[in-house]
Amino acid sequence: MIKASDLSITIVFDNYPYRDDLKTLWGFSCYIETPENTLLFDTGSNGRVLLENMKKTGSDVKKVDTLFLSHHHWDHIGGFDSVIELNPDVDIFAPSSLSRLLVKDLRSMVRSVSVADEKSTMICPDIYTTGMMGEDVEEQSIIIDTDIGAVVITGCAHSGIVEIAKRAGSILGKKIALLLGGFHLMRKDIEEIDEVVGGLMCLDIDHIAPTHCTGDLAMERLHKAFGKRAMVVGVGKRVELPQE
Ligand SMILES: [Fe+2]
Ligand SMILES: [Fe+2]
Repeated sequence: MIKASDLSITIVFDNYPYRDDLKTLWGFSCYIETPENTLLFDTGSNGRVLLENMKKTGSDVKKVDTLFLSHHHWDHIGGFDSVIELNPDVDIFAPSSLSRLLVKDLRSMVRSVSVADEKSTMICPDIYTTGMMGEDVEEQSIIIDTDIGAVVITGCAHSGIVEIAKRAGSILGKKIALLLGGFHLMRKDIEEIDEVVGGLMCLDIDHIAPTHCTGDLAMERLHKAFGKRAMVVGVGKRVELPQE
């Protein structure tokens, strides 16, 4: 179990702004530091912007030992080549939706490539994948086991943010301390959004940090429902984990 105070998450690519000196483009990526590992979750859509944002937030691409890719969409994998050009010494955890030919090529370029299936497995100490979820667009999310609960990070949440939160909570058998990332509600109407918000409110979730493809209307509804338990995030935000 990782002490929440020893875990650092910095959003390094996002279409929502936070720090004025960083660039926003469509996509998502965050830099995760634990006492034992440094992970990059997704890579946004553009390597140049990703690396620039990483530099400005003090996120060292050369320290990354694990590259986790949630799903194959361009706005999540677009920057990977820039990352491995500077740091090929990484273990990639790829979604099964990634092209097999690309996986084959990557195997000759980096330390290792593991392709996820539907089972939850350990990525590195105290960090797990949910396993592949969803039907139309298959996607994996990350679960970090901390002393204040599970920290769950999603790319787009194509398989449904409520389903992901439920699965993540049951994998660790503990409450969710923080649910962060894209909630994929941008094309939903208010009734559909409120149903999802209601579903999340019924689960044991302390804090949410919706961003990326959540959508402005859903963002408003989520912040209204969760109040102070909803964090305002965007590119450049270093997420402070609430202490217990
Ligand atoms: Fe996305
Ligand atoms: Fe996506």
